[in-house]
Order: sequence, then structure tokens, then C-alpha cells
Amino acid sequence: MPTLTRRAFAAGTALLLLSGAALAQAPVVIKFSHVVAPDTPKGRGADKFKELAEKYTNGKVKVEVYPNSQLFKDKEEVEALQLGAVQMLAPSLAKFGPLGAKEFEVFDLPYILPDKAALRRVTDGALGKRLFDKLQSKGITGLAYWDNGFKVMSANKPLRMPADFRGLKMRIQSSKVLEAQFRALGAIPQVMAFSEVYQGMQTGVVDGSENTPSNMFTQKHHEVQKYITLSDHGYIGYAVITNKKFWDGLPSEIRTELDKAMTEATAYANQVADKDNADALDEMKKSGRTTFIELTPDEKAAWKAALEPVTADMAKRVGKDVIEEFQKEAKGGTQ
Ligand code: LMR
Repeated sequence: MPTLTRRAFAAGTALLLLSGAALAQAPVVIKFSHVVAPDTPKGRGADKFKELAEKYTNGKVKVEVYPNSQLFKDKEEVEALQLGAVQMLAPSLAKFGPLGAKEFEVFDLPYILPDKAALRRVTDGALGKRLFDKLQSKGITGLAYWDNGFKVMSANKPLRMPADFRGLKMRIQSSKVLEAQFRALGAIPQVMAFSEVYQGMQTGVVDGSENTPSNMFTQKHHEVQKYITLSDHGYIGYAVITNKKFWDGLPSEIRTELDKAMTEATAYANQVADKDNADALDEMKKSGRTTFIELTPDEKAAWKAALEPVTADMAKRVGKDVIEEFQKEAKGGTQ
């Protein structure tokens, strides 16, 4: 080989080696998209996962968190995950129906959960696993269940008795169970992306909605709703999910560290959820912008009676076996 060619060849090889090394060092990027504010249980969980994932992998993984529907809204984010445009999400359990995983809507059944301990028995138990298994065929891997909390109900009129709901347009997440819930109350349910709810309330496209105090406060719903009823009639929580192909393709030592980060971020998110909701409720009360309604035992009983048929009506959609398993695990029964 003539000297010049040899030199050019050597330089080329060095360049190739260099770019190979640079490539080997380029971090794996995880885009974690979500629709709520950073100072919510889910927002804090996502930020904690970022902190721990980057620490445990010594920077081999970089997590980019995109809150507040910055990247995608409710429906689009799931499609984006399946297409690989983002790698991680934590949609509300009420948003898995359109994906064909209708069984997740069991969590939306009114009054199905007496408390968080019951919830934990379900998510940590056989049903929690079975629901995640359902996602595999959709190209999705379930990583963890994260809490938000129990829901309250807002509107521009006081909601004390089921009859008060008659004719009201109520915003819902994309769950048929939630649709049935509001129909049972005589209201008109309307699916709307989370990021659009504030404006929907302000302009009268919807009259009210249900959500956790933390979600209502951080989206300022209390500024455009005159009344909030402390009903605790249902629950909002999340499934942290990832693109299966992406996850399976990670080097196993990286996946192990990410699993560890996820376990710790889950404990953290679940630990802060109650306080976040209690604080949000306090802040909304302090603001004086909305009137809070506590239900009397009789009013509570009337809500329960009106919503009772929803569980049986939805058995065909959610699965009778799923509902029964849920109820058994919630009570602490063994399989
Ligand atoms: C909603 O859409 O109401 C909430 O589920 C949003 C969220 O992710 O908490």
C-alpha cells in the first residue's frame, strides 16, 4: 500500500474506532411522557425514577420527563408508546379500554375499593399481574402500579343527591365504566383529554367532573367550579408502562438497575400520594374559590344505592371473573 493510502486508511480506522467508542457511550434515552403537573403523585414518581435510573446506571440511561401533556395528550401518548416515539408512560388505569384492555376498568367501578390497603392487595396480587400480562400482546410491558387517590366531584351547583346530577355534562376519562357511572346518576358523560378539562369547564362545554384533589388543584379546576363534593366514590391510579420491544432489547444489566429504580420510585410515589392529595385539598379550601360539601350518611347511602347497579351492568365488559377476583383480593382472600 502506498504511504499516503496507508495513512488515510489508518486515519479512517481511527475515526471509525472513535465513533464506535462514542456510540458505545451514548446513553440510552427514555422519554417519559405524562399529562399531569410535576407536583402531583405521578409527576413526583416520574422525577424520582429519572433521578434513580440515572444514578444506578451511572449515566448510561438518560430519562427525559415531559409533564403536562407537553408531548402528547391522553390518547396520543399510548399510540406514541406503541410506535416507539416515547419509551415510558403512566396512564390512568381508566385509559386502557381503548387499547382493548377493558379489564383495567375494574378499578373504575364505584365504591369497589374500601381503602388503599385493599388496593395494594389487588395490584400486588395475582390480578395485578394478570392485567399486566394482557398488555404484552399490545407491545406493552407493565412495570408498576402507582397511586393517586380517591375522587371528589366538582360542578357549578351543589351535588348532594343523585338527582342533582340530572342533565349535567360531566367530563370523563375514556372508560366505559365511568360512562355507565354518570349515566346511572342521570348525567351526560363526555370523554375529554385531561389537558382540555379546565377550558372545557371555563367555557361550559362541560358542567363538572370527577378527579383527585391533587389533579383538580394543580389544573386549577377549583377556580372554575363553584362546588366540590367530598364523595370518595372511586379511585384514580396508574400503570407505569413501557414499549416491550424497547425494554426487552435493553442489556440485562441495565434492565436490572432500571427495575431497582422503578421499585424505589414506586414506593416513593405511593408514599407521597396521600399527602399530596391532603395538601391539595387544604390549598383549595384556603383559596376560598369553591365551596366544599361533606355528604351526610343518608346522602352517601343514596349515592351508593344509585351506583350499585353499575357493577353488575359492567360485568360483561370488564369480566365477571375479573370483578370477583378483584373483590376477593381486595378483601384479603387467597386465590
Ligand atoms: C384524568 O385524565 O383525569 C387523570 O387521570 C389524569 C392523570 O393522569 O391523573
